Amino acid sequence: MTAGAVSGSAAPVVELRGITKRFGDLVANDRVDFDVGRGEVHALLGENGAGKTTLMRIVYGLTHPDAGQILVGGRPVAIRSPKDAIAAGIGMVTQHFSLVRPMTVAENVVLGRTGGIRLEMAAAAARVAEASERLGIRVDPGAVVAELSVGEQQRVEILKALARDCRVLILDEPTAVLVPQEVEALFATLRRLLDEGLSVVFISHKLGEVRAISDRVSVLRRGVMVGTVEGSTDERELARMMVGRPMLGIRRTERAGAGPPSTPALSVRDLGAAGVHGLPALVDLSFDVQPGEILGVAGVSGNGQTELVGVLSGMRHPSGGSIVVDGVELAGASPRRLMAAGIGRIPEDRHASLIPDLSVAYNLAIERLDDFRRGGLLDEPAIREHAEQLIARFAIRARPDDRVATLSGGNIQKVLLARVLSRDPRVLVVAQPTRGLDVGATEYVRSELLARRAAGTAVLLVSEDLDELLALADRLIVLYEGRIVGEMRAGDADPEQLGMLMAGRGRAA
Ligand SMILES: Nc1ncnc2c1ncn2[C@@H]1O[C@H](COP(=O)(O)OP(=O)(O)OP(=O)(O)O)[C@@H](O)[C@H]1O
Ligand SMILES: [Mg+2]
Repeated sequence: MTAGAVSGSAAPVVELRGITKRFGDLVANDRVDFDVGRGEVHALLGENGAGKTTLMRIVYGLTHPDAGQILVGGRPVAIRSPKDAIAAGIGMVTQHFSLVRPMTVAENVVLGRTGGIRLEMAAAAARVAEASERLGIRVDPGAVVAELSVGEQQRVEILKALARDCRVLILDEPTAVLVPQEVEALFATLRRLLDEGLSVVFISHKLGEVRAISDRVSVLRRGVMVGTVEGSTDERELARMMVGRPMLGIRRTERAGAGPPSTPALSVRDLGAAGVHGLPALVDLSFDVQPGEILGVAGVSGNGQTELVGVLSGMRHPSGGSIVVDGVELAGASPRRLMAAGIGRIPEDRHASLIPDLSVAYNLAIERLDDFRRGGLLDEPAIREHAEQLIARFAIRARPDDRVATLSGGNIQKVLLARVLSRDPRVLVVAQPTRGLDVGATEYVRSELLARRAAGTAVLLVSEDLDELLALADRLIVLYEGRIVGEMRAGDADPEQLGMLMAGRGRAA
């Protein structure tokens, strides 16, 4: 339909010219030019808060620029809403999920496509199953979204966008929640679609992936486009473009107190929990975490990790077993009691544990409001001062009064980290702590976790990122279908064997 395609001219499928977007006095995009050609992957890189999501939200009609132009097939278009974008052949998988949680996968995928006609659910489920098969994206059409792990939800988002037959697909950190095998599967799907002429804008903080899939890479720094380079450009150069200086990289040290075993800080015995449809999600889990130890939990998402973190933080009820912290039995206790007993938590779903419409200051204080009550009222100046201290200590790029909803992913994670670590927990339960974070923020979070370990905190680290587990953990357990199928010292771990265990093939001795 586009003139460009008919005449065979090389007009970009989508082109942005001079896009500027301000939020108050912050310039999130400053006269940005960007384009993507037919069958091309153009990656967009930049630190947390650089303006990547903002730029792509403009293309998809979720927000409007203060200046600049969008061209599709060489012609200027007005994109006022996602509806306009979809009509122009643009699809987007947003960084934060837009799925309707009480609905099934099939309902979500067909949602918005039926134009008010009654959903014929059996047909929808069949169509989703077919698309899932054709695109190589594994989902269960009948599953309710609220019961899926974040990784599974991400697969549904991708399927939903692809099922709309778009010509340009914007993926805002699609792999942040995927394990290596799933990333490979996604890339295989994308390559097939690229051959058929699909164009992709790919946002990721994982430079290895960016190099593997991209034809070109553009880098934003604080709202300004600093350059576009070949997809094969080496990682150090890309990182340097992003941050404006070379990166250092953290080094793991051997555990200081690796002497005789002490009393575990956290001791879990025969723990069970029910999951979706009453099926067991955790089966007879037993493990200890020593003070000053990081125990890594490896596994493909959906194998009990979410339930384990939920039970340890009191958000989910165990069906049996015991959880002991410093000699105190806590299985089934409330989140408040677990917190008081010394368990701190960095949850997988950041947005669910913060109140986006409240200020940074309130979100930092919310787990300890009693400390800020003065004669029945909240001591606002004290809450502010507390926030200012934590903002400085954790280098959060925000002001106390900023609404959390306006912060970038990396800064939201820093708020959570600051809130938990400022309480000095005995036991830290951490899920996917660096998911979606840029190189610098990742390094920062990892060094904070290592500092906690050095200070004697027992850390349970749940991560789908094997490199992260191998870099940080002292010991690893592997979860598969709610059971521990392997346990090893991180130093002895062989990635290939770990991959096999994670896939449910074979048990370690
Ligand atoms: N609705 C909003 N109101 C105010 N400020 C906003 C809003 N949306 C984004 N910002 C700010 O604009 C800047 C760019 O944010 P954006 O989300 O585009 O960054 P990003 O590059 O996608 O970061 P990340 O890698 O963390 O996802 C940030 O400073 C952010 O706080
Ligand atoms: Mg973003």
